[in-house]
Amino acid sequence: MIATTGQTARDFSIKTLAALRGAEAQCTRCPLFRAATQVVPGEGPARAPLMLVGEQPGDQEDLAGKPFVGPAGRILDRALAAAGIGRAEVFVTNAVKHFKHEMRGKRRLHKRPNAYEIERCRWWLVAERALVRPSAIVALGATAAHSVLGRATGIGKARGQAFPLADGIVAFVTIHPSYLLRIQDRADKEREYRGFVADLQRARQVLADRPAVRRMRRAVADVERVG
Ligand code: URA
Repeated sequence: MIATTGQTARDFSIKTLAALRGAEAQCTRCPLFRAATQVVPGEGPARAPLMLVGEQPGDQEDLAGKPFVGPAGRILDRALAAAGIGRAEVFVTNAVKHFKHEMRGKRRLHKRPNAYEIERCRWWLVAERALVRPSAIVALGATAAHSVLGRATGIGKARGQAFPLADGIVAFVTIHPSYLLRIQDRADKEREYRGFVADLQRARQVLADRPAVRRMRRAVADVERVG
């Protein structure tokens, strides 16, 4: 069991995702807010059984104010569909909520968040976890794994394991979808993509086994039958 957080929604004065988004918009917990256009809060159903955590918003997400709407988001959507998971069923967020970048001429180039920034922003992820109470979290890449597990972790070592967290959530670690964008060799890219889909399917399987999720799916099926 990883004692990352035992905090529940009761430990936060923030009671709703809308209030959380308002508080995040005021965030000055680290200097990254200064150069970003806006905060990019998590997005998805308030009681999503699955939470996906990315690294930080990219250029397009910073402008849109929404997570995973750029090239990495398109690969993520494709992989989710291949794993039988609808993007609309998932709460999608990031370990760091402001776009960290450096200017190269007029271009804004992504810069990896450091341990201090991950730690400062973790407060918001913990709040999202406490409010959404997903059954499973998939950490996409090393920054997300660091934030979700509360310590730096190698992806290769953590991949394929199920990490029970203190708040009853099961966490999985996989690659970040932008890694797939950087692979040049077609066969390598295809193999890595299949591995990514398999990791998402593993998380989906955990959800399928959870009684609360089974109940929710039955209720949705009943409503669909009646409708
Ligand atoms: N990469 C991330 O980690 N998150 C986003 O929202 C977009 C790209």
